[in-house]
Amino acid sequence: MNKKLNDVAQMMVTPGKGILAADESNATIAKRFNQIDLECSEDNRRNYREMLFRSSDAMKNYISGVILYDETIRQKSETGEYLTAIIQESNSLVGIKVDTGAKPLALDNSQTITEGLDGLRERLNEYYNLGARFAKWRGVIEISKDNPTPYAVKSNAQALARYAALCQEANIVPIIEPEVLMDSKNSIHNIKECERVTTWVLNTVFQELSDADIELEGIILKPNMVIPGKFCKEKSSSDEIAEKTLKCLKETVPHAVPGIAFLSGGQNDIEATRHLSMVNSASNNPWNITFSYGRALQHKSIMTWAGKTENIPGAQNVFSHRAKMNSFASLGKWNFNLENND
Ligand code: 13P
Repeated sequence: MNKKLNDVAQMMVTPGKGILAADESNATIAKRFNQIDLECSEDNRRNYREMLFRSSDAMKNYISGVILYDETIRQKSETGEYLTAIIQESNSLVGIKVDTGAKPLALDNSQTITEGLDGLRERLNEYYNLGARFAKWRGVIEISKDNPTPYAVKSNAQALARYAALCQEANIVPIIEPEVLMDSKNSIHNIKECERVTTWVLNTVFQELSDADIELEGIILKPNMVIPGKFCKEKSSSDEIAEKTLKCLKETVPHAVPGIAFLSGGQNDIEATRHLSMVNSASNNPWNITFSYGRALQHKSIMTWAGKTENIPGAQNVFSHRAKMNSFASLGKWNFNLENND
């Protein structure tokens, strides 16, 4: 076993801590800035992310690592400090999104394949020198009447395995993110269908990782929860979501994997926290299970900030509160009363 990779993976899922996904592409962060009527300029992207990374209560106590976008890993603050240095000063790890996005699958415009393998070996070496100790690659699987097809599931799983091998070769821990979407326009599927597809996808991913000789002790899995599609008419209780999520993970994820860090996927802040806590309140989980949230950690903070310097302390408090609530959830100790008594 590569101890260095395992040490980093263990740090990423330190009990009581989780990962901040701040790796939105420029197109995605533009959508978030649109909500607060803010221009998506390089300076605004820098100012927003610097505000998050300087939230010292959140960063020191609840955030084990931050996933960055290519622009951010190279960016300096107005006072000339690398944003990566601000993250490292809080004892948090620097991570980097290395895929270049989900593109239409050739001959099949209804599904996607994630790209970014060409030149990845060289990019990973550069990112390591810039401070990255872990990386992220997201494969996207959409459920609809005819999809996903076995070919799309296999192709995306194989791309994840090829990415993971290149990461481990570069001494970087790969986050393996095969996301079964809950929030696309076609997401009318019920929880049973999500369970079936997520189980299939995770089995395929671990088969491909095994074929590529990936050391499971040196990866982190970032899955979706087992949850109904956003436009499904049949609602599911939080109990059922937690129970089916854990059952699916127990059936598919080898115990050698050190940690699982969920994406939030379109759940609101409280749902994402509640479900994580309920998954963790079950006994005998073989892995550390935590969060790697983007929207569910940042939404309120970005709205509070609204692009204004005078709102920075308020936005940082909101971010710290959400990170703290998710820290409780990662220990299975969150309840709704904590939301108001923090
Ligand atoms: P969400 O938590 O907003 O789904 O984002 C997590 C992520 O990293 C998606 O790739």
